[in-house]
Amino acid sequence: MKRVTKAVFPAAGMGTRFLPATKANPKEMLPIVDKPLIQYAAEEAMAAGITDLIFIIGRTKRAIADHFDKAYELEVELETRGKLRALEELRAMLPINVNCIYIRQAEALGLGHAVLCAQPAVNDEPFAVLLADDLIAGEPGATKQMCDLYTYYQCSMVGVQHVDPAETGSYGIVATSPMAERVSRVNQIVEKPKPAEAPSNLAVVGRYVLTPQIFHHLRHIERGAGGELQLTDAIAALLKEQQVLAYEFTGTRYDCGSKLGYLEATVEFALQHPEVAAEFSAYLQRRFCKPCASGS
Ligand code: UTP
Repeated sequence: MKRVTKAVFPAAGMGTRFLPATKANPKEMLPIVDKPLIQYAAEEAMAAGITDLIFIIGRTKRAIADHFDKAYELEVELETRGKLRALEELRAMLPINVNCIYIRQAEALGLGHAVLCAQPAVNDEPFAVLLADDLIAGEPGATKQMCDLYTYYQCSMVGVQHVDPAETGSYGIVATSPMAERVSRVNQIVEKPKPAEAPSNLAVVGRYVLTPQIFHHLRHIERGAGGELQLTDAIAALLKEQQVLAYEFTGTRYDCGSKLGYLEATVEFALQHPEVAAEFSAYLQRRFCKPCASGS
């Protein structure tokens, strides 16, 4: 019985929807309140028992490595100023048994190519993939739910969610047969189908557990939707030789790759944040209930 102990975080995309914020910084470093998206994803993976964090970094390569690196000068400065809580939080970011590995994707050729770049660090083991711009709030986290399921089924799986049928063109879409509660067998997977051609409205959203056989298929796929090497196309090829499951995880997903999803996540997380929740909620009431208060 194999367990998943490695996770890949593709973070080398162009992030064009967030320019100019993503000109010198990866999209995955955008903060939701006070923590970058990539840290939420790393925490979700660590809560699932993952100990090897493999970051695929691109042209803005330094920011993510710097974020997870030990910051000696900053720690000394915080200690000198007596900011001990901040210091403690910084030191607790990565437990001692967790390794960070950084791999460069020299050219943004697509998500499939980004995952292929992780092969030297993953080797012959099952691994999780987390797209940090899909922020998923929930307990237990989506990655823990999927890794636990992997321990039972020992096969690849994609995290899925029903989306508005008009939006299938933004996702990988699966056709499935039900197997168990929240679990179904994938019969077909297509990248970004037009609504009229989509086999369903069940969309793959930023969480995967994959067997290492995926690398063979990633090496052989051709450019697909958007001219990119698509992970979806490699999963479609894998499907011909191995079972792949679709799992409807529990939790709320925010599409932080889009401005609207990012703003929604910011509001919801701020309303839960112990430091600002009360004042922020009062602000929202002042801001949006003024007309009701004045009776207009
Ligand atoms: P997206 O499809 O969201 O693309 O990538 P993007 O370039 O990041 O953003 P937009 O659409 O231009 O605004 C999905 C995930 O795959 C990673 C991204 O970093 C993101 O986590 N990715 C994508 C790579 O690591 N490399 C690639 O070549 C493409």
